[in-house]
Amino acid sequence: MSSQNVLQTWFSQNFKIVQDDYFHFLRFKSISTDAAFKKEMQSCALWLKDYIAQKTGMKSELIETKGAPLVYAENLTAGSNAPTLLIYGHYDVQPADPIDLWENDPFEPTLRNGNIYARGAADNKGQIFYSLMAIRSFHELGIKLPVNVKFCIEGEEESGSHGLSLSLPDLKEKLKGDALLVVDFDGFDKETPGISLGARGIVALELTLTGSPTDLHSGVHGGMAYNPNRAMVQLLSKLWDDKGRIQVKGFYDDVVVMNEEERGQFSFAFDEKSYSKTFDIDAIGGENDFSLAEKNTVRPTLEINGLSGGYAGMGFKTVIPAHTIAKLSCRLVPHQDPEKIIKNLTAFLNENVVDGMKVQVVSFGGEKAFRSSTSSKLATAVAKAATEVTGKNCKKMLCGGSIPIISSMMEILSMDVVGMGYGLPTDDIHAPNEHFDMNRFEKGFLTVARTLELL
Ligand code: BES
Ligand code: MN
Repeated sequence: MSSQNVLQTWFSQNFKIVQDDYFHFLRFKSISTDAAFKKEMQSCALWLKDYIAQKTGMKSELIETKGAPLVYAENLTAGSNAPTLLIYGHYDVQPADPIDLWENDPFEPTLRNGNIYARGAADNKGQIFYSLMAIRSFHELGIKLPVNVKFCIEGEEESGSHGLSLSLPDLKEKLKGDALLVVDFDGFDKETPGISLGARGIVALELTLTGSPTDLHSGVHGGMAYNPNRAMVQLLSKLWDDKGRIQVKGFYDDVVVMNEEERGQFSFAFDEKSYSKTFDIDAIGGENDFSLAEKNTVRPTLEINGLSGGYAGMGFKTVIPAHTIAKLSCRLVPHQDPEKIIKNLTAFLNENVVDGMKVQVVSFGGEKAFRSSTSSKLATAVAKAATEVTGKNCKKMLCGGSIPIISSMMEILSMDVVGMGYGLPTDDIHAPNEHFDMNRFEKGFLTVARTLELL
């Protein structure tokens, strides 16, 4: 039997056990951005650490950071002549709200028309769990691991990776290896696999405009006090010109335009028609003069992620709010410096707001974009593995999303990086009714297992 057949047989014989364990993992409310879930984060990390030790034959431990604990595991039995692969993923998830829009409890995984619905089903519990199952299958089948394997499964990817970022210099020895496989990405489409060789960076900040110490009656004060909501929409509207170009000083200074040859290395999943149709979106944003694919991957963006101020509840309230808040973030492309972007954006907000309005900007920090070689040993191995597993040629992609810690890991650990995964833009990650399926879970499992052999 070919090794793929052996692994497929193991998977079908253990299907029920694997799915039950995956469901167990999904039940933890490991929401890293909300301090109310700190206990759940701890129990999730602890469960995962013990599970890895009991089921996969790897040694595992919890590493405390300034933030959430890191689950670290390794099996180095392949020896010092074999390469070492570091696999990265995260056990934390995004908040589940708006809860009302879920068709099932987001933390009670539910099978519906072949999909598994749960927060984290795809991002990232499903994908990191199939990677662990690859190690488990080797262990249970008594196959010696062909390469040394390390797992770094962090608990703050969805909130900026601050703990890991601070601990990274101290973990240099422990995490070091020949290449880094990040299993937190999408495939190309439903049938076609893809590897990601870059993702955008990110900065995020919160802007508060305050007009008065307390809320005001909009009749008693109307026409006199300047409404902070008005100041906010005026200020925010100055951030773009009518061609969609961001007006912050120096915003595009470091952006390098990709040449044809570089562009030719990548496949882009979206054209305008299929995008509009798939997601039922008719209003297209971003900068004029660029294709959807470019706007999503090689161009930086600025988004207003949230707005709140005054009264938007049931009925009506005649109020001039004391203050108003906007949450802003930028996606960054290679060579853009997060600190410089935050500095210039903060200056723009202060300079362009109406006189007298009090401005407060709180930064959540930022991380750079990453790009990696399209022809590293790992890239070649993963692409070959995915092609064998799916029977379809694996595409090379760039990702519009961000995995904040990757650029620092590349810098500090100096490794080649490859992003892989069988996620799809239609999985509703970060949204209500996030889902994944056992068919893609199996493909992921087989691809990781085959990658270990090919390396
Ligand atoms: N897995 C995603 C990144 C991703 C998105 C990969 C889409 C492939 C396709 C990751 O977990 C994520 O969502 N990251 C956040 C980071 C942020 C909260 C700092 C993101 O991109 O918004
Ligand atoms: Mn995510």
